[in-house]
Amino acid sequence: MPQPVVFVARRIPEVAFRLIAEHADVRLHAAVLPPTRAELFDGVKGCAGVLSLLSDRMDAEVFDAAGPQLKVVSNFAVGYNNIDVAEARRRGISVGNTPGVLTEATADIAVALLLAAARRLPEGWKAVKELEWKTWEPLGWMGLELAGKTLGIVGLGRIGSAVAQRLHGGWGMKVLYTARSAKPDFDQKFGARHVRLDELLRKSDFISLHVPLTDETRKLISAPEFALMKRTAILINTARGEVLDQVALHEALSANRIFAAGLDVCEPEPLSSDSPLRELANCLIVPHIGSATITARDAMADRSARNLIAGILGQPLPYAV
Ligand code: DGY
Repeated sequence: MPQPVVFVARRIPEVAFRLIAEHADVRLHAAVLPPTRAELFDGVKGCAGVLSLLSDRMDAEVFDAAGPQLKVVSNFAVGYNNIDVAEARRRGISVGNTPGVLTEATADIAVALLLAAARRLPEGWKAVKELEWKTWEPLGWMGLELAGKTLGIVGLGRIGSAVAQRLHGGWGMKVLYTARSAKPDFDQKFGARHVRLDELLRKSDFISLHVPLTDETRKLISAPEFALMKRTAILINTARGEVLDQVALHEALSANRIFAAGLDVCEPEPLSSDSPLRELANCLIVPHIGSATITARDAMADRSARNLIAGILGQPLPYAV
């Protein structure tokens, strides 16, 4: 009997292909760039499952293009804002993601961005490369220290907790957080306090965003929120670019309304070539590499493959959305 066909929207770690091959034939979009809409429609046609990336919009049009035999969309990401989950549910299509396995890697990037922005590492490196480092400067490249400061986690979940663990444990930071409800275990472990967003923004030295992208969190941090922050605040975003209003961010950074920002995500991705954020010395941007460790990506490949296989076999997904 012929195996079902699945569309895999990019080359991902090999472990996924080894697992999938036992149950399905793979139609692979092997290019580095994401499939265009036309390529996506073409690729998914007749497939029982799709392994998608966060840059592939999976909506009714794609489900129509696939056909009624489509059983599962397995996202190679923990975030799934690229998938119309309600529409998938309506059609009986299972949706999976990869929670848990990129927590440590993403928390590391949040801390790396914070340290780099606080100590102005990109500016220092630029000065070295461009031969602007003339001498040891007593007033040069002065940044901020981390020890004993207040950390504000916006949207406490797995990754926010891992960031708090690092910064409370390592630098003795006080921790404030927003979440739907207080988390007594977390409060006890980290001496943390559940607060409203406005209080968090006013009191935190460093603010790290960890909310999923939803209608509620789109542009959660805009001009009024920047106005509440300390002038020495550093804002870190490893969640989704759309959670920030980038125009307001640019205004806040260029007016030194806040000290700096470190972004692993932006809108759009890649950042447009004419974005004025590129010009700012106090804005550090990296290309959405939060989960880019071998350990995390291998585990994401494993989980997304297992979700895909379970879906085409009509079984409950091990990591269902
Ligand atoms: C995710 O999995 O949602 C991350 O953003 C990928 O790094």
